[in-house]
This record gives sequence, structure tokens and C-alpha cells, in this order.
Amino acid sequence: MTRENTLQFPAGFLWGTATSPTQVEGHVENEWTHFTAQDGGNCHIACDHYHRYPEDIGWMSKLGTNAYRFGIEWSRLQSAPFAALNQNELARYVDLLDRLKLAGITPMVVLHHFSNPPWINAMGGWTNAATIPAFVDYVSQLVPALKDRVYLWNTFNEPDTYACLTYLLGGFPPQRKWKLGLFRKVIDHMAHAHVQASRIIAREGNAGREPEVGIAKNWTFFHAYKTYSPWDRTTAFACHYTFNKFVLDAFLGGGRRRASTFIGLNYYGRVRFHHFRAMTPASGTPVKRLKDFGFVCDDMVERYSAGMVKILSYLHRRFRLPIFITEHGAASENETFRERDLREYLAALHGAMAGGVDVRGFFYWSLLDNFEWQFGYAKKFGLLAVDFADEKLPRTMKPLAEVYSQICRANSIRAEASVRLE
Ligand code: BGC
Repeated sequence: MTRENTLQFPAGFLWGTATSPTQVEGHVENEWTHFTAQDGGNCHIACDHYHRYPEDIGWMSKLGTNAYRFGIEWSRLQSAPFAALNQNELARYVDLLDRLKLAGITPMVVLHHFSNPPWINAMGGWTNAATIPAFVDYVSQLVPALKDRVYLWNTFNEPDTYACLTYLLGGFPPQRKWKLGLFRKVIDHMAHAHVQASRIIAREGNAGREPEVGIAKNWTFFHAYKTYSPWDRTTAFACHYTFNKFVLDAFLGGGRRRASTFIGLNYYGRVRFHHFRAMTPASGTPVKRLKDFGFVCDDMVERYSAGMVKILSYLHRRFRLPIFITEHGAASENETFRERDLREYLAALHGAMAGGVDVRGFFYWSLLDNFEWQFGYAKKFGLLAVDFADEKLPRTMKPLAEVYSQICRANSIRAEASVRLE
């Protein structure tokens, strides 16, 4: 896989971008509709991808990507439990899929990305076991309708992040805090729903090829800043146990592994603890201050490209399933930093693949600057900038978009990109 001066990726490798409905589409009626983010922003219009997806597919082609991971918004398609799907909204997603096909872009469809229909939220969301059959009913109608156009299905995006921010940290609606029992219930119910949805997807098949199904697991490394501090080590271990081990076991442990044909990995970096505090910009410590501690961070978490090799090797050894990097990205106004970050993570990814890990694709988070949940529009993850001050929401390529485009077209990166080790 290595030619002189280049790290070559295998033929057929998917190079994509990723988005989610609430963050880019606009015009959604879910728990985020009346939510005001820390910067005063809301998701009412977002990037208006709902209307502008043809233009955005044009941008994907311009980037030279051959894959797109996006969500289908459940609340658009079902207005009541077990109701028939809304045919107009379905037709819009079908049109999106048809346009992707024309552009030679392989879709990966996400069924749940941090949002539910209002009637699901009214019954307690995923804390209520009755949400499982409701979701399964939705999937049993959606999959036959789309199966000829989709073979890559991602049931749940980051169940760990979702359950944590809804019921432990209170960042996402319904903004409850420290409800560990509810956190565990949400994970358990989603894991059941994943197994049942996977059966439907396997049964329905796909016209062209075997369908693939998996969750996207966010993986964060949790470490103590001072390794001799028992308190910080205990905090880091408790986070690892709750968000990584417990969640992975719930979805993929024992016989449940058979439900998935791949693992989606969302990998951004790590969180280190110092005096019980998470040392990250996302939890309030400025990037500049973290620099004094020797941390390299984007506007969210500490960068830790060496972790890419560690987590990929671990998942490969334990589950022996193909892996997609369903998300990686960096939020920063500094494009030079973002370029270095991308090259380092991709070099680490390439290293893991050279060591035998079967990775099939990489999706950059995100195609567009968008509504970053509780943070609003302040975090700039996009390859394309969106001018939110202009009601036409014009998109422009950032320097990183040019870099990513070259990588996607060449299916390789320059070999000098080095992996930063601890
Ligand atoms: C989520 C995205 C989010 C991104 C950056 C992931 O946790 O799936 O919705 O925007 O990370 O924070």
C-alpha cells in the first residue's frame, strides 16, 4: 500500500463527508426546534440543506468524494406511532439518493442522529421501552422503500454521546443531569432496537449487493493528566467504563455481534482529567490555556492521532468486523492546524490498515459549517464555509476542502505526514 512518498489507500476505498439532518437541513420539528444554543443560535434554517441538497451534491462532486453519510429525519416521515410514512418527505430523500447515484456518490444512511419525533419525546424518548417497537416499525417501512438505493445502513449515531448529553450532562434536550439509570436504559433500549433493525435490513436485502449494517460508536480516550493522581485516574476509568466499555458491550457483546456487519467509528481524540476537570475546550477551558499544559486541541477536544491506531487495532482484534471511520474532523478557524490534523489522523489510519485492520472508508465531519448542537454555529467543522449572515447561505470552499479533494482524488496522502505520539 506504500508507493515512494505516498501512502496509498486500497482501490474502492470510500472517501466521504458526513452531516446530520438537524445540523444541516433546517425546517425540522423535533426536540431541537425550540432549543437555543449557547451562542443564541437555533436549527430553524441551519444550512437549508433541506432545499439545497442538489447544490450540496454538486459541492461533493467538486470535492471528488465518492461517498456521503447523512441521516434521514424520522420526525419528517412519521407523524404518529405506527403511521404510514409521509410520501412527500420520502420522495425528497429518494430524490437525494437518485442524485447521489448520478454523481457516483455512495450513500450511507443514518437512521438515528440525536433526534426523535415529538410524539416519541412526549412518551419519554428512549427511556421508554415502547420506543423500541415504534422505531422498529419505522425502519420496517423505510428500509423496503429505500433498499434498492442504499446498501450501507448506520442504525444509531453515537448512542453513548446521545445518552450522556441527554441524561448525564444535560447538554441536549431534555437536559437532565446525573441520571445514570436513565443513561443505561437509553443504551439498553437502543441496543435492542439496533438488533431488530439489523434483522429487517438483512431480510430486506438490496438489489445490487449484500446490505451492511452497523452503529457509529464515538470513541474518546479518557486519561488522567497526572498519571499518579488516583482521583483523576478513577474519573478517567469511570468515563471509559461507562461510555466505551458498557456501550460497546451493549451493542456488540456476546451474540449481539452477529447483528452488525461493520463497526462505524467516530474518532476525534481524547479527554484528560486534572483535578476532576475535563481539560477540553468543549467543557470550558480555552485552547490557549490548554496549550500551557502541552495539550494540542481543536475547539472541542485534545488531538490524539496515535489513538487512531490503538482503537482500530483494539476493535479489529476484538470483533473482527470491517470498520468505517464514520466521522473524524476538527473545529477551528485555523486551516493550517486542520490540515496538519487531517494528515496526521490519516497517516495513523493508514498505519493501522497496513497492520491488518480492515477499514473500508473515511467520512470527514463535516461537509458544511453547521449547527453544532448546544454550541450553535460557533464551532467550524466544515470543509465548506457557510455565510450564516447572508440569507442566501452561500457556501465557499475552505483551504482544507482543497486538501481533502486532492486526497480523495489521489486515494493517497503524502508520506511525510507523521503520527504524533505521546
Ligand atoms: C456527532 C456530530 C457532531 C460532531 C462534532 C459527533 O459527536 O455525531 O453530530 O457534530 O461529533 O462534535
